[in-house]
Amino acid sequence: MDKDELKRRAAAQALEHVRDGMQLGLGTGSTAKHFVELLGERVRAGLNVVGVPTSEATRADAERCGIKLTTLDEIDHLDLTVDGADEVDANLDLIKGGGGALLREKIVAAASDRMIVIADESKLVDSLGRFPLPIEVIPFGLAATRRAVLQVLATAGCTGELKLRPGKDGHAFVTDGGHWILDAHLGRIPDAPRLAQSLCAVPGVVEHGLFVGMARTVVLAGAAGIRTIERA
Ligand code: A5P
Repeated sequence: MDKDELKRRAAAQALEHVRDGMQLGLGTGSTAKHFVELLGERVRAGLNVVGVPTSEATRADAERCGIKLTTLDEIDHLDLTVDGADEVDANLDLIKGGGGALLREKIVAAASDRMIVIADESKLVDSLGRFPLPIEVIPFGLAATRRAVLQVLATAGCTGELKLRPGKDGHAFVTDGGHWILDAHLGRIPDAPRLAQSLCAVPGVVEHGLFVGMARTVVLAGAAGIRTIERA
């Protein structure tokens, strides 16, 4: 079975948790896009929900699918966020941000009563870090922020290259928030909660892609079927 079909199956499983009247966080990426499309089918069949998109790309998809949208300024909480991930470990901690939407994704997940992560089974890892960790930074003072981040990484026992993510035009990739992304190629992150905390303290770092303690449920689709893992 191809990977895209597995992603769609994980998305379909998450849809089972959606109830009429819910306020939903809508994730970003190829797996979350399946969820938005499947949700759109239900909406067109009469389901009444409202969504907060985690990126301009998801906003466009949701609008195309006829899903009513709102903002976190208009409502005070979300019942459920469904989003993808680049890596998931056994503690249900995540690396996210491969698509560059980590900042809005984290704000939306933090405003939700529950976060369900949907992925194909290749995203489950023994230890986070093989996927480059996205770190969203302010363009001003990039070199200083980069030096400080390298210092934090070294203190956390991580080594590897820190690369400015390129955009399609050859210049820096620009996030929906107008920031840039440093991708940290670490191979392995020995203590993700500790690194997550230290990165937040670096001036110039807006957010990073470590989602620690946020996912309550992970739905993994594999050739043998769907596996749902709940936070203990
Ligand atoms: C977007 O910024 C990311 O956090 C995505 O959720 C993550 O990259 C997973 O994307 P795919 O579902 O496309 O693998």
